[in-house]
Amino acid sequence: MTTVLTFSNFKGGTGKTTNSTMTGIELAKRGFKTLLIDLDPQANATNLYLKTKENVNGEFVTFGQTLMAGIKNKDIKATIIEVINNLDIIPSSADFALYPRYMETVFQSYTDRVKYLSELMSEWKNEYDYILIDVPPTISLITDSALYATDYAVIVLQTQERSLQGAEAFIHYLQETLINQFHAPTLDVLGILPVLLKNGAPVDISTLSKAEKMFGKENMFQTTIKNMERLKRYDVTGVTFKDQFDRAVEAVYKKVVDELIARILEG
Ligand SMILES: Nc1ncnc2c1ncn2[C@@H]1O[C@H](COP(=O)(O)OP(=O)(O)OP(=O)(O)O)[C@@H](O)[C@H]1O
Ligand SMILES: [Mg+2]
Repeated sequence: MTTVLTFSNFKGGTGKTTNSTMTGIELAKRGFKTLLIDLDPQANATNLYLKTKENVNGEFVTFGQTLMAGIKNKDIKATIIEVINNLDIIPSSADFALYPRYMETVFQSYTDRVKYLSELMSEWKNEYDYILIDVPPTISLITDSALYATDYAVIVLQTQERSLQGAEAFIHYLQETLINQFHAPTLDVLGILPVLLKNGAPVDISTLSKAEKMFGKENMFQTTIKNMERLKRYDVTGVTFKDQFDRAVEAVYKKVVDELIARILEG
């Protein structure tokens, strides 16, 4: 059985990419065959993983076929690159911004366009235990297609008012549009993962307690993601595996993955 996870929130810069890429690495370390599909034309996850691959292999990595080319050839599997053992990526690049416009030329009906990604995945998705989809922050055919293919959405909540509103809007959108209108076959919310702005500052504590009231305590991840400089540095260096700061990051994502798996088993 494959589980498809999407870390999401309709607010930009809340940690969607950071949490999906770090979760992917931890799942792979545990021996789960994992794929990250980067559906964001910003290609942040792609850059992070390719640098990580360079750190591990010591050689510069490039990729031949873009995701957009794979879509046009009806074969996105051909674009897969191995990052580390058990972890693959379907890389994105700027041309993926053309996806919505391209799909308009392929299908008349918007719902058919939404379903297409999931169809492209159907033949080979069973080769993976986990598939993570990294999405851009705005509502578009790209996010709709990702969520249609998703089993569990993890809502990344940065502890500030706007992210709270983004999370609420997102849950509403899932129900009204993805489930009621497009009939997303398996979509559910796995929980809300809090990302602290300032490690225990009053704004964190007050947003967390508001979130508990809004969404219910049982829907909140008990694990919170602290602000860690090392995570920011990975944007530049790729993920590194060498000192105590790397190990501190690893320890956090071990807890995230423990809780993630426990929640999936419960659900
Ligand atoms: N826990 C954290 N500690 C420190 N920095 C973090 C943390 N989480 C994310 N960041 C940094 O915050 C920035 C935004 O994070 P990220 O790119 O993951 O957000 P995003 O939601 O994917 O953004 P976008 O909406 O643009 O896709 C990045 O520079 C990232 O390194
Ligand atoms: Mg991102």
